Amino acid sequence: MEFDKLSAKLVFEIKDLAGTEKLAAFLAGQALAGTVIALDGDLGAGKTAFSQLFAKHLGVKGTVNSPTFTLIKEYKGRLPFYHMDVYRLSLDEAEELGLDEYFYGQGVTLVEWASLITDILPQNLLHIYLETLSVTERRIYLKAQGQPYDDWIYTLTENGVLEQ
Ligand SMILES: Nc1ncnc2c1ncn2[C@@H]1O[C@H](COP(=O)(O)OP(=O)(O)O)[C@@H](O)[C@H]1O
Ligand SMILES: [Mg+2]
Repeated sequence: MEFDKLSAKLVFEIKDLAGTEKLAAFLAGQALAGTVIALDGDLGAGKTAFSQLFAKHLGVKGTVNSPTFTLIKEYKGRLPFYHMDVYRLSLDEAEELGLDEYFYGQGVTLVEWASLITDILPQNLLHIYLETLSVTERRIYLKAQGQPYDDWIYTLTENGVLEQ
């Protein structure tokens, strides 16, 4: 199911990659075992760039590549980091690959093109939609589905994490 922009809890605009990094750093700091972040947005919107910055702040050393061809890659950070790109997968294939096991594991999962596999995503997750405004500017829509994600959005709103 496509991301419903009208149901977003928090919408804000960023000027450049440094804005994306602020959000990624905050969320990497909050992440727990079993955290799932669903990423959507057109090609080039910054799903992979966000994931790379998130990994950096989770303590992953080395290069995080786009998983477009590998589908899933695992990294070691403060917590295990699972990075998926499901663009080329059908729902059946995603189920066969057992992707859902990652969501309930000990690590943090980021899923690019998550809306393509809505049916197997956990009920609780943070959903992020990235929209391209210009070469470096993005509008970011955040939607929390359950806890602790509701609290994260509340914190983001209250403490000015995103002010540039
Ligand atoms: N504010 C920004 N946030 C994310 N990416 C940005 C931003 N400004 C410029 N970019 C660039 O846009 C491109 C986004 O590409 P990518 O992350 O691969 O997109 P996607 O994975 O959504 O297809 C990267 O080259 C990145 O450096
Ligand atoms: Mg990508």
